[in-house]
Amino acid sequence: MERQLAAVVLAAGMGTRMRSERAKVLHELAGRTILARALEPIAGLKPRPIVVVVGHQAEAVESAARAAVPDTAIGVARQAEQRGTGDAARAALGALDSEFAGEILIGYGDTPLIKTETLREFVRAHRAGGAELSFISAEMKDPAAYGRVTRDSSGVVAAIVEARDATPAILAISEINTGVYLADARLLRAAIAELRADNAQREYYLTDIVAIARRRGARVNAWRAPDAAEFAGINSREEMARMEESIRHDVNRRLMAAGVTLIDPATAYIAPEAEIGRDTIIGPNVRILGRSRIGAGVVIEGTAWLDGVAVGDRSHLKICVRAEHCEIGPDCEIGPFANLREGTELEGRNRIGNFVETKKARIGSGSKASHLSYLGDAIIGRETNIGCGVITVNYDGYDKHVTRIGDRCMVGCDTQLVAPVTVGDDVYVASGTTILRDVGAGALVVSHHPQREKPGWTAGWRARHAGHPKALKNGAGE
Ligand code: UD1
Ligand code: CA
Repeated sequence: MERQLAAVVLAAGMGTRMRSERAKVLHELAGRTILARALEPIAGLKPRPIVVVVGHQAEAVESAARAAVPDTAIGVARQAEQRGTGDAARAALGALDSEFAGEILIGYGDTPLIKTETLREFVRAHRAGGAELSFISAEMKDPAAYGRVTRDSSGVVAAIVEARDATPAILAISEINTGVYLADARLLRAAIAELRADNAQREYYLTDIVAIARRRGARVNAWRAPDAAEFAGINSREEMARMEESIRHDVNRRLMAAGVTLIDPATAYIAPEAEIGRDTIIGPNVRILGRSRIGAGVVIEGTAWLDGVAVGDRSHLKICVRAEHCEIGPDCEIGPFANLREGTELEGRNRIGNFVETKKARIGSGSKASHLSYLGDAIIGRETNIGCGVITVNYDGYDKHVTRIGDRCMVGCDTQLVAPVTVGDDVYVASGTTILRDVGAGALVVSHHPQREKPGWTAGWRARHAGHPKALKNGAGE
């Protein structure tokens, strides 16, 4: 029978080395917070619960944690003062049921590359070896500031020594502590109770539980990570940038191997969670964030910002498209210079041209808005043409209102539709019309002012300004 598993993620620290107003774990890596990327693989083990230890910017870190793994039960423990990772783990134990006697996995909130599968193997190895405390170690070419793993003469793990407390001989060790631990709950409670802050940083080090457990005669195991790169932690902006680059490299290589053309991989910024179909071509300076789904045979010319967007097969995004949280159907032509805001849904074969902004606009197949329009809170039917400069007047200063336009309409240039308003199917709207009331199907609607004309007016106007500094030269206008 499997033992009960709980997890703890430490995320209370400020991250001094980031030199930031913002808590380290809230900085973003490939479009998601470091915390989200650290939490997700742990949540993949389905522990119950996951306790996140918060301190610096506690509310923001807590909500980032909940948003990161919405389907997981998250408990929160406050660490009032950041007195070290051992103290943070102690705070977490306080938030767990005191009767809990299963296993506790502990991870740090600043190690965002770990894979669930690796954790699973680690848990398996821990159980198979009958260990009471295990942690993941890794061989690092440049072990830098990581804690070093020391072993006794028989090769058994003796302790983790922090770099700041290490002698040159210990600093020369290349086996480091990755910061992932798995322990029997009872042993963990007892070991944490014994922590002392007698070290270079005057902090309670969680790492000391290894030596304590050994002293208590417990079975301790260091499980070597198959791939050390997975366990890189982020402590500085430089490390963050380097990690961003390496994630990007991996994503781009995977996409190209799967049949996506990246015209310039150096300027393709694509989130690891994005999906992109075959024979899609991505031009320079493109950012694709979140769980975007881009179909097959799509062309994204370049300079685009797409966040949480679905794009159907064969659609063509011309230069400079910004789109977030919207659905673009197949065979659409978008841009150049289009802004598709959240809640835009294009059914397919749509054209959204230059300087068109859409928001919560549901547009039926084959309909077009080719130039200079604002379509907000709009439901537009199929095969309708929205002329240049059409505006849905959706906001009265208090509430937003919906505009409905039917199928096969011709909405003339410079029309304003004052919502809430409904225009039926097959309506022709004359250019320059202000639509205030519903229009029945099949009608022509016109609100032109009668045109007036004063022959010869211009010459008189100019004559009255003959002495003006801006009067036209060379006798023009006289
Ligand atoms: C830690 C380990 C080190 C290991 C490395 C792996 C300790 C003492 N050292 O060092 O052996 O090689 O991680 O990446 O554990 N935190 C709190 N409360 C605190 C202090 C820290 O919640 O009082 C959190 C931080 O927010 C962070 C995590 O714990 O997410 C790790 O803290 P950090 O200061 O980055 O530890 P390292 O110096 O990297
Ligand atoms: Ca760290």
